[in-house]
Amino acid sequence: MSFAGKNVDEPLRSRPRGPKGGLILGVMPEFNRDSLAFIMRCREYGDVVQTRFLYVTAYFLYHPDDIEYVLSTNARNFLKSMSLRSNFFQRLVGNGLVTSEGDFWRRQRRLAQPAFHRQRISAYGEVMVEYTNRALESWQAGETRDIHQDMMRLALQIVVKTLFNADVSQDADAVGQILSKIVKPFSSQATLKWILDNRLPTPGHRTFHRQAAEIDKVVYKIIAERRANNRDQGDLLSMLLQAQDEDGTQMSDKQLRDEVMTLFLAGHETTALAVSWAWYLLANHPECERQFHREVDEVLSSRLPSVSDLPKLKYTEAIAKEALRLYPPAYGIGRQAVQDCEIGGYRVPAGSQVFMFPWATHRDPRFFSEPDSFRPERWTEEFVGQLPKYAYFPFGGGPRACIGNYFAMMEIVLLLATIGQRYRLLLAPNQSVRLYPAMSLRPRDGIKVILYPR
Ligand code: HEM
Repeated sequence: MSFAGKNVDEPLRSRPRGPKGGLILGVMPEFNRDSLAFIMRCREYGDVVQTRFLYVTAYFLYHPDDIEYVLSTNARNFLKSMSLRSNFFQRLVGNGLVTSEGDFWRRQRRLAQPAFHRQRISAYGEVMVEYTNRALESWQAGETRDIHQDMMRLALQIVVKTLFNADVSQDADAVGQILSKIVKPFSSQATLKWILDNRLPTPGHRTFHRQAAEIDKVVYKIIAERRANNRDQGDLLSMLLQAQDEDGTQMSDKQLRDEVMTLFLAGHETTALAVSWAWYLLANHPECERQFHREVDEVLSSRLPSVSDLPKLKYTEAIAKEALRLYPPAYGIGRQAVQDCEIGGYRVPAGSQVFMFPWATHRDPRFFSEPDSFRPERWTEEFVGQLPKYAYFPFGGGPRACIGNYFAMMEIVLLLATIGQRYRLLLAPNQSVRLYPAMSLRPRDGIKVILYPR
């Protein structure tokens, strides 16, 4: 299979094609009606599409070469997009790793990186399996469960335990529930209601800030406990607690809170979604499910999985990759151009918002045959070798790539294997699983499954 390249001989043009939308709101109403469909429709204009939300000019990029240019080659010319600088988002994650910029971000990334090295993360595998196994104790054959809710709860417990070595299982449900409510305003950031709620003391605004304060309470509690016992537990929070500036100053509680909150948010919902969508896809593809069970049984017999099994759980890993392709939790990634630049033969002025969509590029027939089909077997070494690097970017790329990439892949595979060893998950009848593109790509009303013992 050969991949389509860009036509580099095209002359530089000043304005890409794209939907203009209404006089005042631009494409905002169309986008809000069904953002995923809108993103796919826009692809028909070309690889670089120009459009407008209210007064904001936006470029949509669909080609891996242009995505690589923004995320990697010319990353220094781009800041995170303006949506991440909204009051709402700032209130939640402050100046943590996802939102910070420049030297401050570089320093925080340097400090946090060692906690995410493969070796350290391997130690977390045991926790992942143990917590999954513990959750399974309350599952009953034949019952109907919302697997999305279950995976959210489990992933939250895991991120808290592995990164902060704190066991907040009692608080986890409360935090999870508040978080699921609190992300609602992010379902669509391009509505007038959102813009007003973001800036004015509307009821929506007040609810958001009350909920944010509730979460803060839990987070500050964890920080205070750790400061009090002052032991190096070798986890991320220990490293951040000990980290010092050149002048010897340490992070304030507020800075620590921002990083903790960032990892809370970035580290559990995305992973939980990936596992949930994998269960959904497996339930819809019995042949893949059978192959998955065969692999799990062969590799593990009846013992629990561990990190050393990961290299052998190849098909399970391919299921994870294919689920991340079809339902990328981070379905859109945004940047803002600092200086004028040229993307895909077009001049992009400073200040423009630039968006890239794993949702669309992962489904591009130029790079994936039968792009809408769930085919884990496509992930051969040969296929990966041919695939343009940024045709598949569920974890972003370049300097701002996901710091939790290996952590997440390990968690997805271990959770699938631990649960798949015990149960088949069949979709409960009479439900339509609908997509809800909020801050990440969620199922709107959960995913109800019936448990069948294996
Ligand atoms: C399937 C699970 C996950 C997905 C799909 C995912 C996706 C992403 C993406 C696309 C980015 C880049 C955003 C951008 O360029 O604007 C990112 C950044 C980040 N992710 Fe993840 N992530 C996942 C799991 C995790 C986990 C488990 C953690 C931590 C425990 C984590 C922590 C972070 C952090 C801190 C950043 C910001 C990095 C920086 O800018 O230096 N993520 N993630």
